[in-house]
Amino acid sequence: MSNIVLGVSGSVAAYRACDLARDFMRAGHTVRVCLTDAASNFVQPALFEALTGQPCLTDTFEEPVAGRMAHIDWARAADLIVVAPATANTINKIANGVGDDMLTTILLASTAPILIAPAMNPSMYNHPETQASLKKLSNRGVQIVEPTEGEVACGENGQGKLANNAHILRESLEFLSQSKLLEGKTILITSGPTQEPIDTVRYISNRSSGKMGFAMARAARLLGAQVILVSGPTDLLTPPDIQLVPVVTATQMLIEAQKHAVKADWIIGLAAVADYSVAQPSNTKLRRSSEDIQITLTPNPDIIGTLAKEFPDKKVIAFAAEPSADTEYAAEKMRRKSVSAITLNDISRSDIGFGSDENELTLITADGKTYESGKQSKLACSLWLLKILAET
Ligand code: C5P
Repeated sequence: MSNIVLGVSGSVAAYRACDLARDFMRAGHTVRVCLTDAASNFVQPALFEALTGQPCLTDTFEEPVAGRMAHIDWARAADLIVVAPATANTINKIANGVGDDMLTTILLASTAPILIAPAMNPSMYNHPETQASLKKLSNRGVQIVEPTEGEVACGENGQGKLANNAHILRESLEFLSQSKLLEGKTILITSGPTQEPIDTVRYISNRSSGKMGFAMARAARLLGAQVILVSGPTDLLTPPDIQLVPVVTATQMLIEAQKHAVKADWIIGLAAVADYSVAQPSNTKLRRSSEDIQITLTPNPDIIGTLAKEFPDKKVIAFAAEPSADTEYAAEKMRRKSVSAITLNDISRSDIGFGSDENELTLITADGKTYESGKQSKLACSLWLLKILAET
């Protein structure tokens, strides 16, 4: 049994949320409804309270349990938040992080998966702002149940009718079960660049932003896993509910990864580990001179290869950032590193890979199968990858 928060915004289709709440309850879930101000012009909290046996919130400062902040309690307890019907205004607010009523505040405070079923006039649905918001939300991992075509309440024809309840119910329950796909699993992810000191102020590193590793961490958490993220230096915000283990050098990354790998079921190597470190870094700042200087570089340990050999029973996945889409070379690397699968991304393209928000992956598994993600946000690529790995 899961806790579902049903957010209802001000569309004529708000009346259909009553049946939807009952459908969720019949499927065995607890439903708590939150109405926007506009929705409460169409439907009343008392109706949802009677249907669900739970308090129904509208005002941001309501506290059904005295002294407890309801927006935080509801946000934390939610296993899934469904917004149906979702108006253009509510969608645009959610996409832009606005929290000016109880529903949008709960959404901001929650890390639960979110499903949105839009309902509005077709021109409002097709408006570039609404479409941009839906794309942004989808890239963030929000599930969108598209509206259907037909005659909407204002008499116009087009796409904007709330999808039928059975469809919203099916998509919600599927999404809810997906969000538990990796429950009980611990996933260790190495991410970001490493920095190898030359002296006290200089280092050797690379252009990895860490975005793919952080997106993978977020996706794994969204699917219910416990996540340990061993990351080299980045400017990224750690996603909620993730255990971050910050490191600087490849050697530190190996030590921390080995320590945490013991508890992990899967290990995903997304770090762009520097191939070499300086054999003898100076413990003071090197002075400038007009002479050539020589720095001896020594190869760094292969972290993912070492872990794959030390933990042969765990699922270990490597990434191959290659200057071409050469699957043969990637497959050879998979065998050399003894990993369970390798994911190839072509870093010669400027629209995907290093620093970009999108990626396009080819997954090659040890049994020789290949899978293509298509170009998607790094979060969507991560969800795609984790779902395949869960099945193979
Ligand atoms: O050999 P190459 O660097 O192309 O391999 C890439 C894969 O190996 C990535 O998964 C990366 O995180 C991992 N790797 C590692 N330690 C290294 C080099 C690469 O874990 N020293």
